[in-house]
Amino acid sequence: MVTAIIAAAGQGRRMGAGSNKVLLTLAGVPLVVRTIRQLAACPQIDEIIVVSGPEEMAEMRSLVSAMALAPKCQVVAGGSERQYSVANALTAVSGKAEIIVVHDGARPLVDQTAIENVIAAARGYGAAVVAVPVKDTIKVADDNGFVVTTPDRKTLWAIQTPQAFRAAILRQAYALAAAEGFLGTDDASLVERMGMPVKLVPGSYRNLKITTPEDMVIAAALLGEGKGMRVG
Ligand code: CTP
Ligand code: MG
Repeated sequence: MVTAIIAAAGQGRRMGAGSNKVLLTLAGVPLVVRTIRQLAACPQIDEIIVVSGPEEMAEMRSLVSAMALAPKCQVVAGGSERQYSVANALTAVSGKAEIIVVHDGARPLVDQTAIENVIAAARGYGAAVVAVPVKDTIKVADDNGFVVTTPDRKTLWAIQTPQAFRAAILRQAYALAAAEGFLGTDDASLVERMGMPVKLVPGSYRNLKITTPEDMVIAAALLGEGKGMRVG
């Protein structure tokens, strides 16, 4: 069986809306509802765990119960960092889960192809992340604001979610990170530090993470347009 964890327990500070951005309305529908719908529409996903801010549990539960979802869906409370939120959700994942998919609540434009491809890659390789080639030249800088080096852009990928894992690998990676006090910025980094391979799954530039106010404008435009370009 496949379980999806949707991390939606952030504060949305960079959005500056004064509340969790995933509860903002995007083209008439709460952003997190759009995200849950996309995961629930994947026939392979049997169980969904939504991680909510502790103060928003009642609101999140009522949004979820109004959705009449096919997969079993529960809401659990998150923590102060994304990693702690996902760790908390992991304790609620069914013991029968073979594959665990982790997705940002703030990525409502994820498409079915990305979800299916990342699950298939996790089955084959153990760990997989959806990614797109970076468009900008990326430079490494020092603390004084001077360039140190310019990595070859051909080797650079912007990492998105969903990220999918064989359940035992993700559980082990989270347990080790907790034991060693490691805090990563994505789920795969916890697996990488165990020396395990992580497969890149080419995705879409449409799958943006809604982070700042202009992302709401872009997402609304993309939803209105209803079509996009895939890479890879
Ligand atoms: N997230 C979470 N628990 C946290 C922090 C973040 O579940 N303690 C979730 C967010 O809700 C979001 C995803 O992780 O869906 C990606 O995080 P990010 O885009 O950084 O969202 P926020 O942390 O809410 O935003 P900001 O960093 O601007 O405060
Ligand atoms: Mg954050």
